[in-house]
Order: sequence, then C-alpha cells, then structure tokens
Amino acid sequence: MRLRVTTDQPWDVAADVLVIPIVGEPAFDGPLGEIDRRASGELKALVAFGELREKRFTSSLAASGGVRAARLLTISAGVAGDVDREVVVRIGAATMHRLAGRHATSIAVWLEPLAAALDGGAEAVAGLVARGVVEGSFDPRTLYLDAVPAAPPVIDELVLVAPAAADVPALTRAAERGVIMGEGANLARSLSNRAANDVSPEVLAEEAYTLARKHGLWIDVIGPDKATELGMGMFMAVGKGSDNPPRMIVMRSGKKGELDAAGRHLAIIGKGVCFDSGGISIKPAERMEEMKMDKTGACTVIAAIATVARLAPGTPLLAVAPAVENMPGPHSSRPGDIVKALNGKWVDIINTDAEGRLILGDAMTYAERLGATHLVDVATLTGAVSRALGDLVTGAFGSDPAFTGEVLAAGARAGERYWQLPLVDEYRTEMESWYGDFVNTGGAEGGLVKSGLFLREFATKPWVHLDIAGTAYYRKAKPWAARGASGASHATLVELALAGAAPA
Ligand code: BES
Ligand code: MN
Ligand code: ZN
Repeated sequence: MRLRVTTDQPWDVAADVLVIPIVGEPAFDGPLGEIDRRASGELKALVAFGELREKRFTSSLAASGGVRAARLLTISAGVAGDVDREVVVRIGAATMHRLAGRHATSIAVWLEPLAAALDGGAEAVAGLVARGVVEGSFDPRTLYLDAVPAAPPVIDELVLVAPAAADVPALTRAAERGVIMGEGANLARSLSNRAANDVSPEVLAEEAYTLARKHGLWIDVIGPDKATELGMGMFMAVGKGSDNPPRMIVMRSGKKGELDAAGRHLAIIGKGVCFDSGGISIKPAERMEEMKMDKTGACTVIAAIATVARLAPGTPLLAVAPAVENMPGPHSSRPGDIVKALNGKWVDIINTDAEGRLILGDAMTYAERLGATHLVDVATLTGAVSRALGDLVTGAFGSDPAFTGEVLAAGARAGERYWQLPLVDEYRTEMESWYGDFVNTGGAEGGLVKSGLFLREFATKPWVHLDIAGTAYYRKAKPWAARGASGASHATLVELALAGAAPA
C-alpha cells in the first residue's frame, strides 16, 4: 500500500472514496459545507433523511458530484469531547469494514475533523488513522480460504488529506509508523487465529525463528529436555501432557541485560497455550473451540518485538513466550501434583485448568535470569476478567506503582483501554498450600485477584500483568474489526518499548 500525504483541499483529491469523519453533529458552515455544495447538497440531504447520524461508527455512502473523489463516505466519530486515540484508530479500521466487498483501490481520509478533536493534532491522527486502516483490512477468513465473500478491499493507495499548515514530512513519517504498528497487530492476529491443528508450540517457535531471521533478532528456543534440566517444573507440568512438545521461545533485540534509554531492560512475556482443554480438570465442551486463542499473549509479544525491530532496531528488549498445549492424557499433570518452579518454590496444582500462571511464572523467572529489570506479561488468563470488564477493557495488575503508571501511559498513547485491579495482600493466605509453598488456585472468591497474586510470586522486579482474556478476541464482528483475534495490547507493548529507544 502506497501512502501519500497531501495538503490539497479534500474536494480536490483523486481517490475511489473520500472518507469524511463526522465529529458531533455535522456542521455545514465550514469545509464540510463546501464538500456538500460541490456534491449538490447530497450530505445535507442524507442528514435530512436520517441516514447521516451522529452515533459513533455509523456511516453513509454518497455520490460525489463535483468532488474529485468518485464517492463520499461519511463516518461518525461521536461528540468532540469523546474523540480519543482509540476512537481515531477505530475510525480508520471501521472505514475498511464499511467498504467490505466494495471495489475500491484507493481511499483518501480527510484528517481535519479528527485533528481538531484530538490532542496531538494532525500528526497523531495521521499515525492512528493509518494504523486503523491497516488493522481494518484484516480478515482472518483469508487465512484458510482462497475466496472470501465481502472481505475489506485491498487498497493500493491511502491518501491522508492534511490541513494546509501541516508538516507533510512529519505526517508521512507518523503514517509510516502507523502502518508498521498496524501490520504488527495483524501479524499477532493472524498467528492467534490459526487453529491448534495448525499451530503447535513447535510451529509457533518456527514462526518466531522466521521473524527473528527477518528482523535480525537473537532467538533461543528451549525444548522439553533443556527445560527439565533448567528446572522449569511448572512449565513442564503443563507441557508434558501433550504429544506436541512444549517450547520456551526467547527472543531479544539489543544485547543481553543492556539497559535502554529509559534505564531498564524490559521483558515482555506472553502466554502461549496453543490449546487449553483444561487438562485433567477438563473444560466443558461449550465454546471450548475458543481455547485455540489461548496463545494470543505469546503471539502478541512475538509480533511486538518484531515491530520494535522494524521501528527502532537495536532497542534493548526481551520477549519470552512459553508455548504449550494443555491436554488430558496419560502423561498429563493431575490435580494434587506438586512441582518445583524454576525459582525454587513448590507449587501444588489444585486445578490443571489454571495452567497459564504456571507457564508464565517460570517464564518470568527465566526473563529475570536473562537480565530483565522490568517485566510485563500478557495473557488470556481468566474468564473472570472477561466477565468483569468485557471485550473492550484489559485488566491490569502491577507490583510497582511507578512502572505500572508507565505501562498504563503507554496504553494511553497506543489508544488501548486498561483498568487496574488490586493485588489484595490478605488473599495471599488463601493461596498457601499445606504440602507446598502455594496452590495454583485459591477459592473462587476473588479468583481474578488471586491469579495476579500467584504471578507476583515469580517477580522480584517491577512487574505488570495484563489479562487480555476478554479483549484478545471478539466473539462477533465489531464495526471496526472482524470476529476473532483483536490484536489487543500489541500497540501498548510497542509504545512501552519505544519509550526506551535511543533518540533518533
Ligand atoms: N485460558 C483460560 C482463561 C480464559 C477463559 C480465556 C475464557 C479466555 C476465555 C485459563 O487458562 C483458565 O482456564 N482459567 C480458569 C482459571 C480457574 C481454573 C482458576 C478460569 O478462568 O476459569
Ligand atoms: Mn485453563
Ligand atoms: Zn488458559
């Protein structure tokens, strides 16, 4: 896809579709009035007809009359005060979904209405819209099918129509970075959407190898023998139940233990359960097919380190993705099994379905051994977080207020929503084991908090846990996204790592 930033008037830009963001009630006293006049009053007529509305993500297609683009597409962003970075990304993405099945090869997006509503102005909007257009062109059905009815169109050219005073080279750079961010999210989504008979831990490791080679990243993949020798007892307890052997995938940019410009060696750690049947504590059949998505955290950190390598090569960053299949069978761990974690603690496996925390705990210890000073894990960890926060807000836990603040600030820059949950110290006593140091599941009350408390046992450095079980994938299509993996938290991890990139 070619990118072009222009300061021409929106009505002078050639494209198959001119995209007109509508903020608040359409106001025809400015340039929108000029577009309407040139389009022979078509937009005002749509308002009168009740077709062009203020409600966010509603849209209308119109003939363009004397406007140079072949068609007009209005897309509503909601009231001005509510236009944030997330909305701007989704306006770009919703545009592509609205055009699904349509024959468009070039689109032009008029930035001005969004730039007026967002702090950061046209430059921020250019990056976010470009990212959104790329993310909105993603359709997971093309992973397996040759022909997909009504997929978003393949665009050859994206034109960003900037205000007259805009710094065109700066906007172009921002848009190029936005495209790379969007491609990274889509990479995470395409890995995540793949079926468990297609992506085993071994295949995920091969995909990581391919990316490492492509982007000049260091990579080490630890198989079951080495993991056992190292003492990754929790990781192996989950991984040994499947015929598809586990893989601890470790990738790095920069040098081992090297501090970044923010004075830290960041590790991003992603849960890679290629299929979560629950193991011996087996899950009910209903919606078990969704558990192929339980590797999304791993896919996200693998994609994020590749994105960082593209945007700021050499930035110190470690990615660790423990990949397993959680299966029942003669080799599986049983409830009541007691295993020794890599950090030396004895863990009493009460429920084999609380497997994510087991593999993450060992991965966190390992990341610290490799020199990480700050840890962020991303995991589809609990059904409870999706019941509490739904599919639009990721749950966050943190052990260190300053670092948690930095992660949440990166989330805000990325246009992704988080809600911080408390680590209630008192509940830790309910996690104590009689036979070992602690159990992997306490009572159901406060189960979400307890999942965080369990993970905290494996962090001696500032650590943040992002529970994406609700946000990792959409059960139904959204106006801005296909059903399936959403890419959630990829942009946050990239923004966080880039805060440690050397100044350009
Ligand atoms: N992978 C699941 C969590 C999950 C549930 C993700 C629904 C996405 C949608 C996780 O491994 C799990 O099974 N968690 C259990 C924990 C319980 C046994 C303490 C849960 O949430 O029920
Ligand atoms: Mn589970
Ligand atoms: Zn799981």
